[in-house]
Amino acid sequence: MIDFHSHILPHMDDGARNVKISLDMLADSYRQGVRTVVATPHCLILNEDDIDIFLKRREDSYHELMDAISQDSRDFPEIILGCEVQITKGVTHFEKMRRLCISDTNYILIEMPYKKWTEDCFHYLYELIIQGINPIMAHIERYMGRRKEFYNLYSLDLIYQVNADSFLSPFYKKFIPDLFTTGSVQLLGSDMHNTSKRPSRMEDAKNRIIKSYGIERYDQLMKNAELVLKNEKIEKIRYQKMSFFKKLKV
Ligand SMILES: [Fe+2]
Repeated sequence: MIDFHSHILPHMDDGARNVKISLDMLADSYRQGVRTVVATPHCLILNEDDIDIFLKRREDSYHELMDAISQDSRDFPEIILGCEVQITKGVTHFEKMRRLCISDTNYILIEMPYKKWTEDCFHYLYELIIQGINPIMAHIERYMGRRKEFYNLYSLDLIYQVNADSFLSPFYKKFIPDLFTTGSVQLLGSDMHNTSKRPSRMEDAKNRIIKSYGIERYDQLMKNAELVLKNEKIEKIRYQKMSFFKKLKV
């Protein structure tokens, strides 16, 4: 299993507060069957220098974690470096933005604002695509309540990530059949922040996806993750609309 969204790097953001928590999060992920975790600490860039400052902090945090892993006898998944970039004014004008992509790929994880999406947000996304950077929209299901703005995204060639626990949440899971229908579920991530209130629920989500949608859709999500990490293009699949009665069973 590949986890495409996580806050496992120690003291980077509101995720792992220290390296011990990072290790526990990763060991728990491995126990659930996760073999690769993309580390995506929150990243707010307001000027060009912020990119260097962020990357230095991330490097230090990563080395601390890798040192701790080398001294721990438990099994851990492989860690790939990325970040979760807030889309802000001017984010597309910074020359070093490409360095915030996941590993050596042209894919970048983007978080949309929680308040109103202005037209500028769509413009920034378009600018990234023009520069050859492929935006992956983090936890897209969180925005389904604002459908009018959401549907503006469809004019852009975007990739969508859904959080594992949303497949289990009574509130969010009702949106997911529609997301599959519109081709808006390509990647799965835990968005884990700790081992208590926001742990990884990848194993439960995997089981729920297989039970509700079939193993083919789960396999497709994992295949997509492999393709993105190889910097290859993924195929966007629009699945058939689910009947009302089938939706009730999800
Ligand atoms: Fe996140």
